[in-house]
Amino acid sequence: MANLILYYSRKGENYVNGSIQSISKGNTERVAEFIREAVGGDLFEVEPVREYSASYMTCIKEAQAEQRGNERPAVKRLPESLEGYDTIFIGYPNWWGTMPMFMFTVLEAFDWTGKKIVPFCTNEGSGLGSSERDIRAACPGATVLPGLSIHGGSAASAEKQAAVWAKKSV
Ligand SMILES: Cc1cc2nc3c(=O)[nH]c(=O)nc-3n(C[C@H](O)[C@H](O)[C@H](O)COP(=O)(O)O)c2cc1C
Repeated sequence: MANLILYYSRKGENYVNGSIQSISKGNTERVAEFIREAVGGDLFEVEPVREYSASYMTCIKEAQAEQRGNERPAVKRLPESLEGYDTIFIGYPNWWGTMPMFMFTVLEAFDWTGKKIVPFCTNEGSGLGSSERDIRAACPGATVLPGLSIHGGSAASAEKQAAVWAKKSV
């Protein structure tokens, strides 16, 4: 059975090793690609309908408001089905201690019975936060393996680490 690598990654301004820089490829996207190179699978990029501000500081506030409101922001499209996948890697940046709220929108749209979920998260120091616990709650019936945390600024050089972990997780 195939692997699905479902991820979100923000382009544009981001916080990299203590300073704000503009990046063309997001940190989580880099890790998603390393995972695919290591174990194969289909990549699916989650795209929220809402366009968050290109300004990092404004985006931070927008995301915080969504979390405080426990919102489920819309996404442009969902995977058609999880049929045919037994392992689903779920990748996201840590936003305020967990996944961006639109990732909950995606997870809550599926029946996860019998699926294996493997989380991975890039962040500036908070690790996976509460995201593994939150994924377990959002995906009843799934087995959620221990996730991988990668420091965002080191994502580009995390190929080996991601590959070793991904191979152990499938
Ligand atoms: C809205 C927002 C909230 C964030 N909150 C946290 C946080 O609580 N803890 C943390 O370590 N990093 C936080 N970050 C930093 C990102 O997790 C980090 O830069 C990540 O690598 C970005 O991944 P991406 O390039 O794939 O979007 C936040 C970034 C944004 C934009």
